[in-house]
Amino acid sequence: MDDLVLARALHVLGVIHWIGGLAFVTLVVLPLSRSEAGGGLVLFQAVERRFSTQVRLSVPLVGATGFWMTWRLDLWARFADTEYWWMGAMLGLWLLFMLLLFVIEPLMARRAGPDDPTAAIRRLLLAHRVLLAAAAATALGAVAGTHGFSF
Ligand code: HEM
Repeated sequence: MDDLVLARALHVLGVIHWIGGLAFVTLVVLPLSRSEAGGGLVLFQAVERRFSTQVRLSVPLVGATGFWMTWRLDLWARFADTEYWWMGAMLGLWLLFMLLLFVIEPLMARRAGPDDPTAAIRRLLLAHRVLLAAAAATALGAVAGTHGFSF
């Protein structure tokens, strides 16, 4: 298998694990946590802890394979071209998650739990919905753009 095919396959595999997990947390775990009186935040935190350990592998994998394809195909100029907005969106989303996973989350973990768990779940749900919408738009743009659709 040629290295570009392998990089593309691993890129998409990483995206499936990462964005699929984000969708599950946003659409299943957080709504369930919101409806559970009292124990909701504990449920979310237990799921998130497990998932963030795994996603700390898939997010770097997506970045490494993405940069490998960009370098091999010499696609750097696309980051400055609005027609390829989805290249910038991929990079922006990746940078944001790297920051969340490796800087912000470890800092938050050291702080005491929130005073109002219900309000905390509401805020988490809103943040996850925004991230999922951005990830879905990025994935749609990337597949359509890669396969010849011109924006
Ligand atoms: C550092 C971050 C990233 C870089 C440098 C990057 C780079 C690339 C490159 C170079 C391609 C191939 C483009 C082509 O062949 O014309 C690609 C494809 C793709 N990327 Fe990314 N990417 C990154 C992050 C992401 C993220 C965060 C997502 C998901 C939201 C994503 C989803 C995809 C998808 C779905 C494809 C299309 C695969 C296909 O249908 O063949 N990428 N990416």
